[in-house]
Amino acid sequence: MRQQREEMIESLIGQLTLEEKIDMIHGDGLFRTKGVERLGIPPLTFSDGPMGVRNEFENDQWNPIGNTDDYVTYLPSNGALAATWNPTLSYETGKVLGREARGRGKDVILAPGINIKRSPLCGRNFEYISEDPHLIGEMAVPFIQGIQEEDTAACVKHFALNNQETERLWVDVKVSERALREIYLKAFKRCVEEGDSYSLMGAYNRYLGEHCCESKELLNHILREEWQYDGMIVSDWGAVHHTKEAAESALDIEMSVTNNFDEYCMANPLKEAIERGELSEELVDEKVRNILHLMGRLHMIDGKERKAGTYNTLEHHQKALEVARESVVLLKNQEGQLPLSRQDVKKVLVIGDNANRVHSNGGGSAEIKALYEVSPLLGIKKILGGNAEVTYVQGYFADDIDQEEQEQNWQADSLENGGGSTRTIADPTKALVEKRERLRVEAVEKAKEFDTIIFVGGQNHAQDSEGHERPDMKLPYDQDKLIEELLEVNENMIVVIVSGSPVEMPWIHRVKTLVWSWYAGMEGGTATAEVLFGLVNPSGRLPESFPITHMDCSAHCIGEFPGGKTVSYKEGIFVGYRYYDTEQIPILFPFGYGLSYTEFSYDKVEIKQEGEEIGVFVTVTNYGKIAGKETVQCYVGKNDSKVERPRKELKAFAKIELQGGETKTIRLSIKKEELAYYDEIEKSFLVEAGQYQLYVGKSVADICLEESFMIQ
Ligand code: BGC
Repeated sequence: MRQQREEMIESLIGQLTLEEKIDMIHGDGLFRTKGVERLGIPPLTFSDGPMGVRNEFENDQWNPIGNTDDYVTYLPSNGALAATWNPTLSYETGKVLGREARGRGKDVILAPGINIKRSPLCGRNFEYISEDPHLIGEMAVPFIQGIQEEDTAACVKHFALNNQETERLWVDVKVSERALREIYLKAFKRCVEEGDSYSLMGAYNRYLGEHCCESKELLNHILREEWQYDGMIVSDWGAVHHTKEAAESALDIEMSVTNNFDEYCMANPLKEAIERGELSEELVDEKVRNILHLMGRLHMIDGKERKAGTYNTLEHHQKALEVARESVVLLKNQEGQLPLSRQDVKKVLVIGDNANRVHSNGGGSAEIKALYEVSPLLGIKKILGGNAEVTYVQGYFADDIDQEEQEQNWQADSLENGGGSTRTIADPTKALVEKRERLRVEAVEKAKEFDTIIFVGGQNHAQDSEGHERPDMKLPYDQDKLIEELLEVNENMIVVIVSGSPVEMPWIHRVKTLVWSWYAGMEGGTATAEVLFGLVNPSGRLPESFPITHMDCSAHCIGEFPGGKTVSYKEGIFVGYRYYDTEQIPILFPFGYGLSYTEFSYDKVEIKQEGEEIGVFVTVTNYGKIAGKETVQCYVGKNDSKVERPRKELKAFAKIELQGGETKTIRLSIKKEELAYYDEIEKSFLVEAGQYQLYVGKSVADICLEESFMIQ
C-alpha cells in the first residue's frame, strides 16, 4: 500500500507546477492551505486545539463567523486529562477529538500540547500535560492514536523548548544536551515513534540561535535524521522569519496570523528565490511529498473511504464527564468532612466567582465554543435539587476576565511584543478596592448564617492564558484575604480551587478540606459536585508538583525564568519533582499526590527480570468500605551512578480499581532502556550496569515499598 501511495505521490509531484507546489506549503487562509483542484488535491485544513475543535473564523480575518454550527464538545484541558493518570481515558478523549474534528471537516487538529511545565508561571501550562516526560509520553501517545483512528491528523506541539510565553517569538533557549534529551525531547520522540503522529508543530522560540521552525538541528537532524520522522511539520502561526532558512529546514508548511498570504516567507519570496536559481525546487518537492503523504494517510487523495466524524453526540459529552470525574484531585480531607451527604445538607452557601463562571471561551488559541458548560454552582444545584436551599454570593470580583474575553481579535496582534509578556498587575483603582471590599464583607456576613459553606475560587483564563505569564503564584483578586476571613467565621469551610496551574496557599494549614479542579471541560462542574457529594470517589493525582512559591522552583532559583533575549535552563535535568525530591525542598503538594474517600495499603512488591523488561508486581489492598481507584507509581533511582541523577524518576504507573476490602496484584513493566541517562560525550543514551532502587508509592513523596534490582 505504501509503495502504491509513494508512486501516486511521485506522479502528482511530477504534474505540479512550481506555483501550485508553493501554494501547498503556506497558508492561504488562517487555517488552511490551497489545494490543486485540477489534480484532485484538496486544501489542508487545521483547527485548534487540545480542548475541542475551535470555532470557525473568516478565511482571512480573525472574526468568528458566529453561526450556530460550530458549538462543540468542550473536553477537559490536557492538564486535567493528565490528572486522571489514565491512558485509556486519554485514548478515548483523543477519539472524541478526532471524531469532532472530522465532523467539522478538519484534517489536522492542533493537539496535544506536550511542552514540559518547567515553571508554574507559564501561561499555557493548562494546555500542557506535565513536568514529567514519562507521564507525558504515557498520556500523549494514546491521545494521538485515538485522534488518528478517526482519520484526523494529530499535531503534537510545540517542538521544542517552548516553556514560556514571555518573548516567545525570540527567546533563545540555552539548555544542556542532556536536559534537552532526557527532559524536553523525550515525550516528543515517543509521540512520533510510538504515537506515529502524522504531523508536528514547530515552536515560536529559538534554540542555538535558530528559530525552531527553521532549525536544522531540531527539524533536520533530530526529527528527520535521528528519529526518521516522515510526518508533516507545520510552523506555529507566525513562527517563520526567513525564506532561505525555512526552505532549507525540514519545515513543510508555513502558517501565520496575518492575511498577506502571498508574502509569507514560503510563498512568493520562496518562488522567486527558486526562479532566480538561489534555492532548489527539490526543497519544495520534499515538502509537498510530506504533505501528500499526510493526505494519503487521511484518505484525502487515494479515493478510499474516509471516516466522516461527528460532533456533540451524547457519547462525547459523556466521555467529557468521565474524564472530568477522574481529574478532580482531593488534596485535603482532614476530618473526613467530605463527602457531604445529599440527605443531610439542607442549606448550603456557595461563595466565589469561579462557582458561577464558565471558562471554555478563553485561554488563547485553546478557546472553545462549548455547546454548554456546567459551572460548579450548576453542578451543585443539579445534585441537591429542590430539597436544599443553595445560596450563592460572588465573594470576589474578577475584574479583568470579561475584558479579556472581548479581545476576540487578539491573535491578529499576537506577533507584537515578542509574542508574549509577563503580566504586570496594576494597582487596583479606588472603585475596584471598594467593590472587592463590598463583596468580601457581604460574603463574610452571609457565611455567619450557614454551617455548610463551599468556596469555589482559583484562577481563570485571565491568568491561565496563551501569550502571558503570571508574575507570581498568588491567587488573584484578593482571594487569600477573603478565604482567611471566611475561615475565621467557619473553620469547616470547604475550599475548591479551579485553576490550570498551582497557586500559593498561605491559608493551607487552616483549611481542613481542599479540592482541586482544573479547566475540566463542559461537565467539569458536574464532576466537582459529584465528588463533593460522594457520587464519585475522587481519583485524580497531581501531574505536577505544587511548590509553596514559584521561587522554590528550580527554573527560578537555579535557572532563569523568563530570562531576556536568552533564557538559560541552568537547572538542567532537575525540573519539577526531580529537583524538589532530590534536594528535599519543602513543597505544598508533591507530584503524583491525591486522596481518595477510601484507603489503600501497599502490601508487597516483587521484581522479575523479563528479558529487556523489568516486571514489577505490586499487591495493593483497598481496606476501606467503598470502591476506589488508586494510581500505583513506580520510581527508580541509582544512588551510586557515575553521573548526577535525580533521587527518583517515574518509570511506570498503573491506575487500578478496587472494591472495598479487595486485594489485587498488578504487573507494571519498566523497559531497561528507560533507565538510561543521556551521555553528552558519547552522544547517546546509556544504561549503566549495577544496582538500582525501585520505589513504589502513592506519590513521589509517599513511598510505601522499596526494592532493589541489578542490571548487568
Ligand atoms: C499557538 C498555537 C496554535 C496556533 C493556531 C498559536 O498562537 O501557539 O498553539 O495552534 O496559534 O491558532
